[in-house]
Amino acid sequence: MAQQYGEVVYWNDRYSNEKEPFEWYVGYDGIKHFLTAKYLMSSVDAKNQSPNKVIKGPFQSTKDCRVLIAGCGNSQVGESLLCDGFGKITNVDFSSIVIEQMRKLYSDEWYSELHTRLRSEQKLDEVETNPTQIATKKNVRSPTKKDEIPTFEKMHFECTDLTNEMNFRDESFDMIFCKGALDAVLCGTNASKRVQCMLNECHRILDSKHGVMVIISYGEPNSRLNLFEKNQWEVKIKTVPKPYVPGEKMGG
Ligand SMILES: C[S@@+](CC[C@H](N)C(=O)[O-])C[C@H]1O[C@@H](n2cnc3c(N)ncnc32)[C@H](O)[C@@H]1O
Repeated sequence: MAQQYGEVVYWNDRYSNEKEPFEWYVGYDGIKHFLTAKYLMSSVDAKNQSPNKVIKGPFQSTKDCRVLIAGCGNSQVGESLLCDGFGKITNVDFSSIVIEQMRKLYSDEWYSELHTRLRSEQKLDEVETNPTQIATKKNVRSPTKKDEIPTFEKMHFECTDLTNEMNFRDESFDMIFCKGALDAVLCGTNASKRVQCMLNECHRILDSKHGVMVIISYGEPNSRLNLFEKNQWEVKIKTVPKPYVPGEKMGG
């Protein structure tokens, strides 16, 4: 990444010119196994060093899990988390341009279209899986089926610089998801100081008992591990395969 990736002017300019959603590094499908209640709970268990203890908390019901997407850009990860049951999602980015675009995109209309789409997908499902039952259900529709269409709490979008004091209370999130933003901050001027501010702020706003920060970075572990104070963070490293891009040379 070039130095400009750390600068807000660069991102505002880029988002003004490129409005289509762009997913850095890897899409949701390549990482969603790290974002399940089971996986997140296992990280909490490791943190408390009690592998068999049942932790009660937000990861049992992802609907109650307070998620911050740090440096969201115009990625669709927030939308995917929402559709997978995460109920309380806040997206932040320091580009006011992208935040405005995302607010416009995820309008009331978008939520009602999502609802309609899920409703029709559910009906198709019913037809495909059980054609005879649906025939009788037309008249007497099962109330439980209807209730299965989730209602969504709307996502919030805030223009916020991750490297400054953020306008969130202590311990107000259960999970922070950060794909590419840490790398971007590392590119800019004063990088080490700004990254430390970012990580301190993330630490402050994460729940002290079970908070988890999931960072997707292109950096090798040895170029990132030293950023995490040992007494603040317990770090687990996983490798995410690079998605296949047609036309790109292997290993490129
Ligand atoms: C590499 S892009 C990743 C975007 C998105 N997360 C994705 O995965 O596609 C980095 C994003 O971080 C944002 N960013 C960079 N530095 C930031 C900072 N100090 N505070 C908030 N957002 C920042 C940029 O505006 C950009 O949207």
